[in-house]
Amino acid sequence: MLEKIKETTTFIQSKITISPEVGIILGTGLGGLVRDIKNQQVLEYKTIPNFPLSTVDGHSGKLIFGELGGKMVVAMQGRFHFYEGYDMKQVTFPVRVLKSLGIKFLFVSNASGGVNPNFEIGDLMIINDHINLLPNPLIGLNIPELGARFPDMSDAYDISLIALAKKIAKKNNIKVQEGCYVGTTGPTFETPKEYQYFRVIGGDTVGMSTTPEVIVARHMKLPVFAISIITDLGVPGKIQVVTHEEVQEIGKHAEKKMTLIMEEMMQGL
Ligand code: HPA
Repeated sequence: MLEKIKETTTFIQSKITISPEVGIILGTGLGGLVRDIKNQQVLEYKTIPNFPLSTVDGHSGKLIFGELGGKMVVAMQGRFHFYEGYDMKQVTFPVRVLKSLGIKFLFVSNASGGVNPNFEIGDLMIINDHINLLPNPLIGLNIPELGARFPDMSDAYDISLIALAKKIAKKNNIKVQEGCYVGTTGPTFETPKEYQYFRVIGGDTVGMSTTPEVIVARHMKLPVFAISIITDLGVPGKIQVVTHEEVQEIGKHAEKKMTLIMEEMMQGL
């Protein structure tokens, strides 16, 4: 793995002149943030050695380097999901590469289903904890150069980044929820009882990504900020048929708020 990370990093550095300080992973329908990235340098995943290819609609598969809110960033437009058939090392490989490129912070976004009865469709939720129900991406031989065998997860989501996001949201009159994201394999959305189960175990939202990337980032001691857009509700009495298209459409509406928060956070880092 170390060799692969090195090979991919060297390739990227031979094509791109920007050294990013922040990595941003953009979720389903949330790629619009890249329009605000200035002086872009772009690499398509299909040209990058060792990178898997994104197979889902709404995930276009590019690394976009440039300036956002005065910081040099690299955004992943399109991520890799376990349900696509990649193994957990492939799903999380880009995070290893971003760290190797020099990022000091990882920002993550996703679309999710709300199971907290106080949530509404279109709400933003700052993730302050997670329950990972996917296979752990650190299973297997540990590579000490990357991190510890038994990484601590008590502070997976950086509290000072959460405080900064809340301050910015308040200043801009943006309603934000805060809570726990349950990461599942997908690709099915949940049955009513599954939504209820995720609520009972302590979840506020459920989705099919994010926890693998966060675990790998924390393995490397990267501070993480993550935010979720609630695209549907798994709350008794409010459950409706969910489609991927709907998730993308709602995401588009809410992403402006998310983009504003992330962009202003860059200035505050
Ligand atoms: N469940 C799982 N993943 C999701 C959902 C959901 O309801 N909405 C968006 N991603």
